[in-house]
Amino acid sequence: MFSSKDSIKADYVSLSINDGAASVKATSRSVWRQWNQLSRFQRTIFHFAVITIVILVIYLLPGKTQNITKVQENDYDNEKIIKEHPKLLEVANEIKIDSVDQNKEAIDKGIGSNNVEVIDEPEFQPEINQVEDDQIREPPDHKSQPVKFDGPQNAKQKAIIEAFKHSWNGYKKYAWGYDNIKPISKGHHEWFGLGLTIIDSLDTMYIMGLNEEFQEARNWVQNSLSFDQNRDVNLFEVTIRVLGGLLAAYHLSGDKMFLDKAIDLGDRMLPAFSTRSGVPFSDVNLGTRSAHPPKWGPDSSTSEITSIQLEFRDLSRSVQQPHFEVAAAKVSEHVHQLEKYDGLVPIFINANTGLFREYAVITLGARGDSYYEYLLKQWIQTGRTIDYLKDDYLLGIEGTKKHLVKRTAVRKYLFIAELLGAARYMKPKMDHLTCYLSGTLALGVHFGLPKEHMDIATELLKTCYETYIIQPTCLAPEITYFNIQKSDDENQKDMYVKTNDAHNLLRPEFIESLFYMWYFTGNKTYQNWGWKIFQAFKNYTRVENGYTSIGNVKNIHNTRPRDMTESFWFGETLKYLYLLFDDTRQLIDLDKWIFNSEGHPLPIYDA
Ligand SMILES: *[C@@H]1O[C@H](CO)[C@@H](O)[C@H](O)[C@H]1NC(C)=O
Ligand SMILES: *[C@@H]1O[C@H](CO)[C@@H](O)[C@H](O)[C@H]1NC(C)=O
Repeated sequence: MFSSKDSIKADYVSLSINDGAASVKATSRSVWRQWNQLSRFQRTIFHFAVITIVILVIYLLPGKTQNITKVQENDYDNEKIIKEHPKLLEVANEIKIDSVDQNKEAIDKGIGSNNVEVIDEPEFQPEINQVEDDQIREPPDHKSQPVKFDGPQNAKQKAIIEAFKHSWNGYKKYAWGYDNIKPISKGHHEWFGLGLTIIDSLDTMYIMGLNEEFQEARNWVQNSLSFDQNRDVNLFEVTIRVLGGLLAAYHLSGDKMFLDKAIDLGDRMLPAFSTRSGVPFSDVNLGTRSAHPPKWGPDSSTSEITSIQLEFRDLSRSVQQPHFEVAAAKVSEHVHQLEKYDGLVPIFINANTGLFREYAVITLGARGDSYYEYLLKQWIQTGRTIDYLKDDYLLGIEGTKKHLVKRTAVRKYLFIAELLGAARYMKPKMDHLTCYLSGTLALGVHFGLPKEHMDIATELLKTCYETYIIQPTCLAPEITYFNIQKSDDENQKDMYVKTNDAHNLLRPEFIESLFYMWYFTGNKTYQNWGWKIFQAFKNYTRVENGYTSIGNVKNIHNTRPRDMTESFWFGETLKYLYLLFDDTRQLIDLDKWIFNSEGHPLPIYDA
């Protein structure tokens, strides 16, 4: 690099050269005198400039460069090369994963395959510039090595793959390219118009060793996935599913195409962060790049705005462009500053004021859950170097113990209650979503957090298992209520389900926690529980063209199939089942990878 002093000198040189060129009639003598007055550095610059000009002239003259000569040897004439050039460029882009970069390098160096060499033709300069502009965010030496998976190792993993393929084939046949399949009516469902099922499935298929299916999905992403759509999407959902899915696919496969898509998506979502408080709006239009609060009110969900940081940080680090991470981390830092209720947070926050809606529900279920999850996971993702994340997580768990951990009256099942309103009235109710907490607690203990957390994890998981097996279908409802006061009734039940809450959406949280607990303890009970629930999914949710959500877990004769397969069935439930039956517990190393909230593994960094 030039120091600032050197660059001043360099300017002076170019001036004097210009002066010299202007005074054509100057005697050779005065030119020589001027030359002698230049410093050694100035003369070097002059020599350098002359050599550069000479090289450029030779390089740009047609028929003179080595490359073109070589092509001519191959019996091509220039015209033909020019005609074929765009197609060749296209083909090169298609066959080679890193082709754009490699082509670019090849162009710069004037080397490479014959196909690439014709790019030297100056007529195509603008196109090349465009490629460069698209690639400009790329760190020059970034490489992601593909991770290898050997496919299923036992009969149970094979059974999970069979279930995956059954679902996938239905999707392919009847809903390809749409967000979801409706497996009974053989139709499709659109939510964001981003092929959610394909993207959520990518890393699952990669881990399962379904290479053909993975390639098909990959090609769809490359050729058909477009973010340029005038349509509102939910920032959080698209971040955890699409951005997370693309980044995980990139890190596992090493295929840079996924990263390019992720950058495009990240750019289009950034406007959501342009609020007065920095707390993002919940909705963003990827086509017009504008953002606004949800239709139902001015607030964003707390868990949504605090569960996008793993993905935006990973994007930043993968492309070595800090602004994604900065925008998302600012949200966490902001929430860190806010006053909480013994570490617990209300589930709504106003994007304009940046303040919690004070009297909103406190819950570790819907709209609260992953606030706590991402505190821990961000801390792990950044090599356990950002203390406030761990501190807030620990405060949250302390608050949970103090206010939310309750037990049922008869069998003393542990569950996580909710707090309502300003009075913080305790409601003995738990979403199935809350079952994620066991896995998160176990993960924290693995990274050195208090061992007592494992006791809550174990007990909560047992309760979650009960919410499944007490039902005739052996499937858990969306929400369970608990009896905490002993009555005179001898047959008093610990749990009950309201009709409106009796649906099962093929959700992953219980299976997810089974996986973590199996991974960290090796206790086969967790595998056995998972196998049993998998049978229940097969018995009551499997249909001819896939697996469907059901409306009622309470009656095996009236399950009320909902004709819908959520993408998390592909991205999480089946992935965690497959990992649960990994007897080696080494398929995914949890010291190297951190799963985002949609089951997409991202690398752990040193800091
Ligand atoms: C395995 O887990 C189950 C369920 O939590 C528990 O009852 C059992 O004692 C555990 N077994 C061992 C050997 O720790
Ligand atoms: C599933 O169905 C099989 C065969 O009818 C039955 O034996 C098994 O108990 C069922 N399992 C669950 C969990 O529903």
